[in-house]
Amino acid sequence: MERTLVLLKPDAAQRGLIGSILSRFEAKGLKLIGLKMRTFPSEHLEKHYEVHRDRPFFQNLVGFMSSGPVVALCLEGKDAIKVVRQMVGATNSREAAPGTIRGDYGMSFSNNLVHASDGPDTAKSEMALWFSDAAEISEWEPADLGWTYNIAEELS
Ligand code: CMP
Repeated sequence: MERTLVLLKPDAAQRGLIGSILSRFEAKGLKLIGLKMRTFPSEHLEKHYEVHRDRPFFQNLVGFMSSGPVVALCLEGKDAIKVVRQMVGATNSREAAPGTIRGDYGMSFSNNLVHASDGPDTAKSEMALWFSDAAEISEWEPADLGWTYNIAEELS
């Protein structure tokens, strides 16, 4: 099983889309193991987007992300990083495919509703930043796990 970090950005909260987006991940069969909502300080967002520090959009991005509540999720599942990235869609919401979260709900490049870890190394470092306290992660077994996956082929 793989774990990945997802952020529902301030535009998702302002537009009343938190529940709709979260329900897509649940309905897909991804296991929710971490969830918190807070307006995070710009220092925290600067760390999260450190790789973009020299890009021209960096200050706007940090300003936007610290302008209101962010919902941070930790999701678990087989190939969860790739599965979630596919569900989120292309960075520019106007080009994201219909059926993806950005393709269905967004019209903006910058206000693109969701962030999702783009690979195993990023997922590890982003989860360490957003869920630094292990007590914030819930280890549990969904009752339908053996129906979400094929027990003989995928869970043994
Ligand atoms: P996200 O997946 O959170 O990762 C970086 C974010 O920077 C991206 O989504 C966009 O919200 C934002 N962004 C704004 N402008 C650009 C750009 N020109 N290229 C890439 N990302 C951008």
